[in-house]
Amino acid sequence: MRCAIYPGSFDPVTNGHINLVHRGLAMFDSLIVAVARNSKKDALFELDERVELLRQCLADEPRVEVDTFEGLLVDYARRRGVGVLLRGLRAVSDFEYEFQMANINRKLSPDLDTIFMMTSEDHFYISSNMVREVARLGGSVKALVPPPVNARLNAMFGDKKG
Ligand code: PNS
Repeated sequence: MRCAIYPGSFDPVTNGHINLVHRGLAMFDSLIVAVARNSKKDALFELDERVELLRQCLADEPRVEVDTFEGLLVDYARRRGVGVLLRGLRAVSDFEYEFQMANINRKLSPDLDTIFMMTSEDHFYISSNMVREVARLGGSVKALVPPPVNARLNAMFGDKKG
C-alpha cells in the first residue's frame, strides 16, 4: 500500500491544492494531507478551520486523511511510517525553496524522499498568499478556491466578491 504525505499550510486550501490531491491519488493508494501547526505572521485561518475546510473539500475522497503536525515534518513522517512527501511546483520561483526543503528533509531523514508534481496550467498562478490578499481587499476568489472556502471568505469579508 503506497502512501504519501502532502504537507503544507493550506491557509486556505485552493483549487491548486485540490487538483494536486486528485493527481496524487492516481499515483498513490492513499494520501495524508498534513497541515502544519506553524504560526505565520499573516495567517488568516486557525489550524482547526484550515483542517475543517480541507475535510469539507475532500469529503468525497475516502483515500485521503487530513491530519495536523507540529515540529519537524521528518519526525511526523517517521511517526506515520511514510517515506514519500508530495509537493506541487508552480513556477521557477518555487524551485529554490522546494529544492532547499527537500534536501534538508533528506539530510535529516535519508529514507524520506520528495516527489514533485507540476501544478496544472489552470492553477499555476494560484497561491494561498494571493487568495488571502485578494479576499482581504474585497476581490472575488470564487474561481480560485473550492466553494466551502469561498463561502467562508465571503462570511469573513462580505459577499461583494460574488
Ligand atoms: O504550504 P507551505 O507553507 O509551503 O508548507 C511548508 C511546510 C509546512 C511544508 C514546511 O514549512 C514544513 O515542513 N514545516 C515544518 C517544519 C519543518 O520540518 N521544517 C524543516 C524543513 S523546511
